[in-house]
Amino acid sequence: MTASFPALRLRRLRAHDWSRRLHAENVLTPSDLIWPVFVREGTSEREAVGSMPGVERLSVDLVVEAAREAADLGIPAIALFPNTPQEARDETGKESANPDNLMCRACRAVKDAGIPVGLLTDVALDPYTSHGHDGLLSEDGRILNDETLGVLAAQAVNQAKAGADIVAPSDMMDGRIGVIRHALEAEGFGDVQIMSYAAKYASAFYGPFRDAVGSGGLLKGDKKTYQMDPANRDEAMREVMLDLEEGADSVMVKPGLAYLDIVARVKDRFNAPVFAYQVSGEYAMMRAAMDQGLLDRDRAILEVLTAFKRAGCNGVLTYFARDAAKLLAA
Ligand code: PBG
Repeated sequence: MTASFPALRLRRLRAHDWSRRLHAENVLTPSDLIWPVFVREGTSEREAVGSMPGVERLSVDLVVEAAREAADLGIPAIALFPNTPQEARDETGKESANPDNLMCRACRAVKDAGIPVGLLTDVALDPYTSHGHDGLLSEDGRILNDETLGVLAAQAVNQAKAGADIVAPSDMMDGRIGVIRHALEAEGFGDVQIMSYAAKYASAFYGPFRDAVGSGGLLKGDKKTYQMDPANRDEAMREVMLDLEEGADSVMVKPGLAYLDIVARVKDRFNAPVFAYQVSGEYAMMRAAMDQGLLDRDRAILEVLTAFKRAGCNGVLTYFARDAAKLLAA
């Protein structure tokens, strides 16, 4: 028996629902959620993503409906990811700079409809390249870091022109945040935010996403020369430091659940807005268990998202955003 017992009984505060609510240290709300949405060509087309039960690729008109639904549910922002038609992909990903590409059309459609939702756009070449890498490749298959920077900056400006509120570079090239920040300023988009995928790990948990955007089958090799080694923690701090110095407004840790130690450290050290991406593989893993009746769906969704907040996240990109917002409204 410790000396403090029975003066201290921590169970006292847990005894009733009202008391548990009163003493909750973190509260999940729909304002914490960013909903990733996959975009495809066509009109009134919705197509199931095989690797992600319950997730669909939507044509632009249906993306507008999804954006409206997000706004109605109190979800502040959606993140758009294009499934570029295979014939529009090439070695250099030049479709990324096309002002009428799928991403830009989706942005304009949501903005033209006047929907009060933030638009986050992914900046990287992988949905546009025939090799599925996030950067340009040399003849012998090496990533050309510095040559890629201008292409990323052009992509970000292209998205800003189409109405993107937050550009989110996910490519992990060195120096990209600074180059993108300067390009946005130079083109008159000083108000566009940058949320950098700062600590992005080379993860097995992106597999279902690559199926969703159609880059998985194309990818030659892996992304280990630009995405981080899951073993590393100090390196994540250096990535975050550089991205904030180069002009990122907020930073992201990705994947989420297995990397909450990184979230907590980033939050403690930098006192900057931190987001985590509960990625496709995390979603697929949880869905598989839920669909088999092995997990209580509603409780599991809310528990994990609350854990992200406890770790220090300002918000979470999650494919459960709509489900969670509905649960929170109930
Ligand atoms: C592209 C990108 C990826 C994800 C977001 N942006 C995949 C990758 O880096 O291969 C993954 C998201 C997810 O798995 O849900 N640069």
